[in-house]
Amino acid sequence: MKVSDAVAQRRSCRAFLDTDVDADAVRDVLVKASRAASGGNVQPWRVYLLHGARMAAFKAGMAERSAKGLMDAPQYPVYPQPMKEPYRTQRFGVGEEMYAQLGIPREDKMARLKWFANNFQFFGAPVAAFVYVDRDMGAAQWSDLGGYMASVTLLLEEAGLASCSQECWSVQHKFVSEFIGTPDAEMLFAGISIGVADRGHPVNGFMTDRAELDVWLRDA
Ligand SMILES: Cc1cc2nc3c(=O)[nH]c(=O)nc-3n(C[C@H](O)[C@H](O)[C@H](O)COP(=O)(O)O)c2cc1C
Repeated sequence: MKVSDAVAQRRSCRAFLDTDVDADAVRDVLVKASRAASGGNVQPWRVYLLHGARMAAFKAGMAERSAKGLMDAPQYPVYPQPMKEPYRTQRFGVGEEMYAQLGIPREDKMARLKWFANNFQFFGAPVAAFVYVDRDMGAAQWSDLGGYMASVTLLLEEAGLASCSQECWSVQHKFVSEFIGTPDAEMLFAGISIGVADRGHPVNGFMTDRAELDVWLRDA
C-alpha cells in the first residue's frame, strides 16, 4: 500500500467486528511506528498494549464503572474552553454527522450518552494501545505523540486493521492507570482501539470533511 493511499483511506472506526486480531501483528506496528520523528529524537511516547484475557478483564471493570456513572476529572484540557470558530463548528460537525448516521436526534441526550459509552468498550475492538507521556514533557513532546499515533494508525491501515484514537480515556485515566499499573511519573494521553472494521455498521458509513484550504493554508 502506498503511503498516500493509507492517508486517504484511513478513517476513525467506531464499530469493530468480534474478530480476533493477532496481538503480535499489532505489537509489530507499534514498534514500526517508533520510526516516527520526534524533536531531539526524545521519543516521548510510552505505550501499553492491551489484549486477550487482560482486555476482557479491563472491559468488564470498565463496564462496572460505566454502569455506576463514575468518571475522573481530566488531567489535561482536552479542548480549549470556550472553543472559538472555526474550530467549534468543525468539532460539533463530526458529532452531528455521526449521530445522523446512527439516527439519534439531538434531543435524545440519553441515546447519545449511551452511544458515547461505547468508547469505553473500545467500540468492540479486541486490542487497544494506551499512549502515555512523562509528566515532565511539554507541548513539543506532546506533539510528538501525535506523530507517533498517526504512524500507528497508518501502519494499521496497511496491515488491514482499523483504529480509532480516543482521548475520551482522559476521563477514565485513574482506572486505566491503576489497571495497567503505570508509574506515577507517566500520564495518559489517549487510547487507540484496534481491530477489524464492521463495514456494515452505519457509524462507519461516513467520511469526515476537511476545512476549505483558505482556512488553514496560505502562502507565507
Ligand atoms: C488524538 C485523538 C483523539 C481522539 N479521540 C476520540 C474519542 O475519544 N472518541 C472518538 O470517537 N473519536 C476520537 N477521535 C477521532 C476524531 O474524532 C477523528 O479523527 C476526526 O473526527 C476525523 O475523522 P477521521 O479520523 O475519520 O478522519 C480522536 C482522534 C484523535 C487524533
